[in-house]
Amino acid sequence: MSKDYIVGRIEDIPDKGAVAVKAGRQVIAVFRSGESLYAVHNTCPHKGGLMCEGEFDPERGLVRCPLHFWSWQLDRGELETDPRQMIRTYPVKVVDGEVVLSA
Ligand code: FES
Repeated sequence: MSKDYIVGRIEDIPDKGAVAVKAGRQVIAVFRSGESLYAVHNTCPHKGGLMCEGEFDPERGLVRCPLHFWSWQLDRGELETDPRQMIRTYPVKVVDGEVVLSA
């Protein structure tokens, strides 16, 4: 069962950038492109690269892992080259300027 966490304000996340936040015991990477937010588990399911340090492509909604450069779709969590492989995604929204994650 998921729970909502306020993890900061939208202006805490650089536009076209990402931050890692804690939601309970999980560390989640939150990406921002203008008013759009995406949230994925901060640890790459391949070998543990930190997604918040990956290369964010806001136009395509992708993040490229910093370790071996696999590209993940931020909205659905699918690996670009093999949609059977997934990274966990989380619902995220802005309420009165605060970023609310369900994790
Ligand atoms: S650890 Fe992310 S692609 Fe290998």
